[in-house]
Amino acid sequence: MSQDRIRRPSLLSKVVSADEAASLIKDGMTVGMSGFTRAGEAKAVPLALAARNASNPVKITLMTGASLGNNIDKLLTEAGVLARRLPFQADPTLRNAINHGDVMFIDQHLSETSEFLRSRQMKPVDIALVEAAAITEDGGIVPTTSVGNSATYVTLAEKVIVEVNSSHSAAIEGMHDIYIPGKRPHRQPYPVMAADSRIGTPYIPCDPDRIAAIVFTDKFDSAATNTAPDPETISIAGHLTDFLANEVKQGRLSNSLNPLQAGIGNIANSVLYGLVHSPFEEMTMYSEVLQDSTIALLDSGKLLFASGCSMTLTQPVGDAVYANLDKYKNRLVLRPQEISNHPEIIRRLGIIAINTALECDIYGNVNSTHVNGTHMMNGIGGSGDFARNAYMSIFVAKSTAKDGAISTVVPMVTHCDHTEHDVDILVTEHGLADLRALAPRERPKIVIEKCVDPAYRDQAFDYYNRALARGGQTPHVLEEAFSWHAHRAKTGSMKLS
Ligand code: COA
Repeated sequence: MSQDRIRRPSLLSKVVSADEAASLIKDGMTVGMSGFTRAGEAKAVPLALAARNASNPVKITLMTGASLGNNIDKLLTEAGVLARRLPFQADPTLRNAINHGDVMFIDQHLSETSEFLRSRQMKPVDIALVEAAAITEDGGIVPTTSVGNSATYVTLAEKVIVEVNSSHSAAIEGMHDIYIPGKRPHRQPYPVMAADSRIGTPYIPCDPDRIAAIVFTDKFDSAATNTAPDPETISIAGHLTDFLANEVKQGRLSNSLNPLQAGIGNIANSVLYGLVHSPFEEMTMYSEVLQDSTIALLDSGKLLFASGCSMTLTQPVGDAVYANLDKYKNRLVLRPQEISNHPEIIRRLGIIAINTALECDIYGNVNSTHVNGTHMMNGIGGSGDFARNAYMSIFVAKSTAKDGAISTVVPMVTHCDHTEHDVDILVTEHGLADLRALAPRERPKIVIEKCVDPAYRDQAFDYYNRALARGGQTPHVLEEAFSWHAHRAKTGSMKLS
């Protein structure tokens, strides 16, 4: 097995135990690790590091692509290893530590981490720790189910640790397209002209001398935990399909639409499922995370091709895809996240971006990250990369959360990730608000009528009518703008009466 997976014989002497590799990580170091939404993270060395911390404590900065599987963020947090974490996470234990101020979390646009590192606007990476399906004859690192920021970490780190994971099918080789941009300000355009453009190499180039250790593992990715579509998400998908069908009818989009992006989480995944039964044909995706819905669309024949930077699938879908990689390989590509989320490419391809809001307000501002404006949920992820640059930026949400105690449409968002300038369409299970080319004063009536839950509509109109009396381009009653949140904190519900 070792020779199949490590095709450069001289590197076989670098195979060590996870404990030995973990000992290369010293206190105060910055580690750039593979892993993006539970896919393709290094699995053995982080656990060895957590175990070692009881006797030989270290605190590190951990950078990844995005969130991790196999409870790695949880175990590293519990062991006290994490001082700083970026650019995204989705783990309840780490989230608590962040909200307690125990871990400093830098919530970054996912396309930007690589640029910050490359231009040395952030502390450099000491060690790259990446999972691989194989190492090529030249020392090239073949990623697994995600690419994330691995190419940047491998390129810039002082030392590289590779976890060669035999649980991934060797047939995954060839699915990746690694492109490393040139220096600014004289960088050439990124030659991605369509979702299926291939512009780089199928492995991360790496000088073999920089590989300090290789560890073998056979641990699987954690499966995605997405829930099945429910009546609300089916309804959101229905509104969106009707709206897009009308755009086709008006001649603004073709019947294959423009390349699609869909955000992480249950809602965006369920909404995308809705397109399986839509009238659209020959669609493409240029997205970030490819979830079960992407596979369902490929299987249905509606989707021709999908480009992403990671694949995060539930157990049954993952089993079916990874056992039949040859069937999917020519219709999927995994790229670095700075390419999958690159503003230039998103603008050029005219992406239709569908992301999920935690809350939005009556003017169309969106909060994706902070509960009550203070407590981190997961992070902005790639939603800002896409929303700002998309052909059309759509945000979806259920109209209420926590059994109706929270209205997700509020007078003013408590934290703004996507300003009204970046938000074109809002959709809840009640309807779709088309905000394109509307002035702020033209938006609240549509948002309230189409998107707010009936239980909150009167209090939303009451707020807006009194705000109007105060005047302004974007009228507000400032002393009441967060009164719904305050009421929820006091009574358990945002319902004022
Ligand atoms: N206030 C407080 N909690 C809220 C809320 C609000 N306004 N709206 C939703 N929630 C809670 C839900 O109740 C749920 O809680 P639970 O886990 O205790 O059940 C949780 O948030 C997740 O909501 P859910 O309805 O399951 O939606 P989701 O899985 O689709 O996730 C986001 C929604 C916003 C958290 C998720 O999409 C996200 O992290 N987005 C930011 C990053 C992003 O958009 N990346 C995509 C770029 S490609």
